[in-house]
Amino acid sequence: MDSKVIRQKFIDFFKSKGHKIVSSSSLVPENDSSVLFTTAGMQQFKPYFVGTKDPVKDFGNKNLTSVQKCFRTSDIDLVGDESHLTFFEMLGNFSIGGYGKKEAIGYAWELMTSEDWYGLPQDRFFATIFAGDNEIPADEESEKFWKEVAPSIEVKKTGREENFWPNPVWVGTCGPSSELHYILDDGSSIEVWNLVFTQYFHSEDGSFKDLGQINIDTGMGLERLAMIAQEKSSIFETDLFWSIITEIEKHTGQKYSEVANQSKMRIIADHLRAAVYLIVDGVRPSNKLEGYILRRLLRRVAVKTFQLKDSLTPQLYSILQTIIDVHEHREVENVTEQELERFGKTLDRGLKEIKKIARIDGKLAFDLYQTYGFPLEVTEELFRQKGQQIDHKQFEEEFKNHQEISRAGIGKFAGGLAGHSETEIKYHTATHLLQQALRDILGPEVFQKGSNITAERLRFDFSFDRRLTDQE
Ligand code: SER
Repeated sequence: MDSKVIRQKFIDFFKSKGHKIVSSSSLVPENDSSVLFTTAGMQQFKPYFVGTKDPVKDFGNKNLTSVQKCFRTSDIDLVGDESHLTFFEMLGNFSIGGYGKKEAIGYAWELMTSEDWYGLPQDRFFATIFAGDNEIPADEESEKFWKEVAPSIEVKKTGREENFWPNPVWVGTCGPSSELHYILDDGSSIEVWNLVFTQYFHSEDGSFKDLGQINIDTGMGLERLAMIAQEKSSIFETDLFWSIITEIEKHTGQKYSEVANQSKMRIIADHLRAAVYLIVDGVRPSNKLEGYILRRLLRRVAVKTFQLKDSLTPQLYSILQTIIDVHEHREVENVTEQELERFGKTLDRGLKEIKKIARIDGKLAFDLYQTYGFPLEVTEELFRQKGQQIDHKQFEEEFKNHQEISRAGIGKFAGGLAGHSETEIKYHTATHLLQQALRDILGPEVFQKGSNITAERLRFDFSFDRRLTDQE
């Protein structure tokens, strides 16, 4: 089953169950300063989950479905294996006061196993549910509902780590979850679908308040679903990635079938695909926040490419072409080329320098970052191969000494709900003023595409068809 068909069936299924289709929001969340990126389908619906907005008023429906572009850095170290990614598409169905656990579980089972839909073999699945702990009771209902729709299914009970979302829990809505796992040919299993029963509000003081209503938030990675539906042993062998991998083979002159090349090629494919989608959603390489994350992705692409072919060609046209629509090419191409060209100049020297280092420490890692732009995790990875570790504390101290404190920088990502400080309110007002000023100068065709405010800075994205002049 082709990934286009998989996507379409998901949407059609939930449409047939009375859901309203909502399009994906940007990878850079609008009006949400608590996170740098969209990491889940529910994110654009947060105000509805908390109850400050009414889905019926805005969508004419309590039940929604989407295919959401997501970007997560949390799994970045696992990219290169069979099933982890930074960028992925999340298939989701949501209900805000519409239906409950019984329906959510029933829908999941029907879609996965019915011959009319994905028709996957029933005996390959098992489910997990929240076992309960001293703060939150066990989710016994879900076990009952699984047994009702799938009498022979095995239901395993696990703790907070696995079956409570989000993990780590944030300030906001949260709840127990139930996951559907699929057993692969080699006997290992893979999590495919996460059904979250959002029923608590976790406050800043650490307490959980019952929302008095269960909301449904589910998420399933399209790539993993494609992997099982297409009977492949990794997501990179599905139609979503195969043409990218083939182009990487041509570009590097190496074969994916060589086991030693696989993880490098997978990292290049994932990171490049993620970079493309971030660029399309307006992110540009920089040393701060989202921009630095994009930069790190591209630098890692550069290092991995270098390792495969001992040189770096910043022109990745043929690979990019397999990732995006033709009309978005030019911009994406310019951005990646400029970035890789820039980094390429020091990459060669940096790698030579690294060869001379017998024992790495935090200070040397910082020097490599400072002089050659080597992101910490790249240096770390290169030395891990030699069995050496880097002291992050020492690196960070050096970093601070150099007064380059950038919040996104060193592998830390903004998390937790930021409060609405006075500064943030001022910044919010400033975005309105900025928008008006832009319209005055550039014309009424300027439109806000998003805004993201933290206590440190404001970001305002707008649509306009050309670069601004310095004067403007
Ligand atoms: N929000 C949950 C997740 O991200 C389910 O959609 O897994």
